[in-house]
Amino acid sequence: MPQVRVCRAFWTERVRETEKQEILNAIAVPLLAWYDVHKRTLPWRGTKDPYQVWVSEIMLQQTRVAAVLPYYERWMRELPDVEALAAVENERLMKLWEGLGYYSRVRNMQKAAKMLLTEYNGKFPQTSKELCRLPGIGSYTAGAIASIAFGEAVPAVDGNVLRVAARTAGIADDIMDPNTRKLFQKMMEKAVPKERPGEYNQALMDLGAVVCVPNGAPDCGQCPLAGLCVANRLELQNTLPVRAKKAKRRVEELTLYLLVRGDQIAMRKRPEEGLLAGLWEFPHVPGTLDETAAAQVLRGWGVTPLEWQKKITGKHIFTHVEWHMTGYLLTVRGGGEDFLWAGAETLQTLAVPSAFGKFLEHALRRMNSR
Ligand code: ADE
Repeated sequence: MPQVRVCRAFWTERVRETEKQEILNAIAVPLLAWYDVHKRTLPWRGTKDPYQVWVSEIMLQQTRVAAVLPYYERWMRELPDVEALAAVENERLMKLWEGLGYYSRVRNMQKAAKMLLTEYNGKFPQTSKELCRLPGIGSYTAGAIASIAFGEAVPAVDGNVLRVAARTAGIADDIMDPNTRKLFQKMMEKAVPKERPGEYNQALMDLGAVVCVPNGAPDCGQCPLAGLCVANRLELQNTLPVRAKKAKRRVEELTLYLLVRGDQIAMRKRPEEGLLAGLWEFPHVPGTLDETAAAQVLRGWGVTPLEWQKKITGKHIFTHVEWHMTGYLLTVRGGGEDFLWAGAETLQTLAVPSAFGKFLEHALRRMNSR
């Protein structure tokens, strides 16, 4: 069987470049007809407001539609336009993003909002090329905004589109390679129709999310592109897209302290630079410490442990690093001047990254049970 796969993958490399382009050029008509019937009803659809398109697209990077919906609705209620985003306080902004992760996205959005006000009179530029000048807007987001809000015939190439295009046109290049990304970008630039480019891009997103799904389980029986699709014809759905193995993530072990003093818990602000910059965390140290070693650290902070109540373990995976965490929930006395001692109410207002979510739940449960 692997032998057959190799031969088929080899065949796809033999599909001439022009043929691949012709296949991609041919997808617009069946794709848009399918979209007219099957498009998902989503709150950012049916608007051409570039601000709304922008917010939705940034939220949807790395995050599923279902998870984004409540964030999007709340954001639009609180920050309905560029002015509101530029003016909102950092702490509140972080809170609105809490749980979505990749916080540099939201920081860049505020930078871009300020730049729109100072340099663009509060109006979005209307071409993908100019949009790319704004912080946090790369060719995918620029393509999505320019096509959906302004009707520019440009593609919005994300992971979904790479997968659909690789399978449909039988492109076996490694999609992790920046040169391959450039190749797809170029090919999709030629394939986008002049009519309805925004809907075309969203149709590809929906097809990638609902039909041409990853991990070898596409629903080819429902696919409007099945008749054109090289992967479908050669049963290469499991082979395409080709994705080179990533380097292994670094593992960091951490010991977290959930220090309860009266009805308050110790929180610490992360540095303004680097991973999860400026967000709130439980005090922690590197390494996995047992209670004796953990108590020694506490002495250094001037904190006296009273009762060790619970040991909680958790894991969080970032792009390049994995945190393996051991948390101690304990009651304490004294010390810790560098900490913010937060009551349950204050704790709810702090932006705490989801890496600490499990620990936060325990802390809140403990505080609410008092
Ligand atoms: N994923 C990324 N952008 C999207 C959009 N506009 N609609 C649905 N899914 C998406």
